[in-house]
Amino acid sequence: MSPAASTPPAGTPTLAVTGLSKLFGGLRAVSECSFEIAPATIVGLIGPNGSGKTTVFNLITNLLRPDAGAVYFHGARIDGLKTYEIARRGIGRTFQSVKIFRELSVWDNLSIAAMGRERVGWEPAATAWLERLGLDHLREDPGESLSVGQQRLLELAMNLVVDPPFLMLDEPLAGVHPVVRQRIADTIRALRREGRTFLVIEHDMAFVMELCDKLVVMDHGLKIAEGAPETIRRDPAVIDALLGRRRDPALA
Ligand SMILES: Nc1ncnc2c1ncn2[C@@H]1O[C@H](COP(=O)(O)OP(=O)(O)OP(=O)(O)O)[C@@H](O)[C@H]1O
Ligand SMILES: [Mg+2]
Repeated sequence: MSPAASTPPAGTPTLAVTGLSKLFGGLRAVSECSFEIAPATIVGLIGPNGSGKTTVFNLITNLLRPDAGAVYFHGARIDGLKTYEIARRGIGRTFQSVKIFRELSVWDNLSIAAMGRERVGWEPAATAWLERLGLDHLREDPGESLSVGQQRLLELAMNLVVDPPFLMLDEPLAGVHPVVRQRIADTIRALRREGRTFLVIEHDMAFVMELCDKLVVMDHGLKIAEGAPETIRRDPAVIDALLGRRRDPALA
């Protein structure tokens, strides 16, 4: 993995957001949101539809400019940097609706991801990622011919080919077949063991409960809870926000 520009003191979170806020007209999409992500952990960002999760991703990556608040990566302030500069610092990202070049082959998608970051000698790593993610047999196929799950894996591979220490995944399981869901979950877990850090938005509660070291729960733009999955699953405010009156077996 790419090292941080300078080594931060021990105990420095990989990512910290403080007081992050975004208004859309009169709508408080994100309000005073603060949380930290420790190195080599998986943090789940959960909450009902429209609660502000993707907006938090867009604020961290400066696709949207925050109205207030700050973002720190390895202890250095990054809000205000351009999106490509933030990516260069070592923050990878996938999107709720997959962003790949649909007409281009799997291999050419990886090529563009690597060239975009001026990588040389990226090919062996790309081959290794394709093998590891089970996409090797599809390398000449156009992106659009892949299943949703394979497209999500390709988007992940496009990140991994430039080796980011921190990855933000927006609904990596949405629309994905159960077999590929398992592969994605296993891959995230293995990458965490290897020292990578994750922020994952996902609606599948069984997945987040099983995978995440910590959960941050949002509702109407506000962080309403933060803690270990075991604690969060018993939090009445969380159950209410996520499920209304319904009970989810994963939270029972
Ligand atoms: N660019 C934008 N302009 C105006 N309103 C926006 C914009 N982006 C998001 N919103 C609104 O901000 C709120 C938060 O949206 P956001 O996409 O962050 O929610 P989310 O938690 O990711 O939801 P979902 O689980 O459905 O993906 C919603 O009410 C949404 O309609
Ligand atoms: Mg979203």
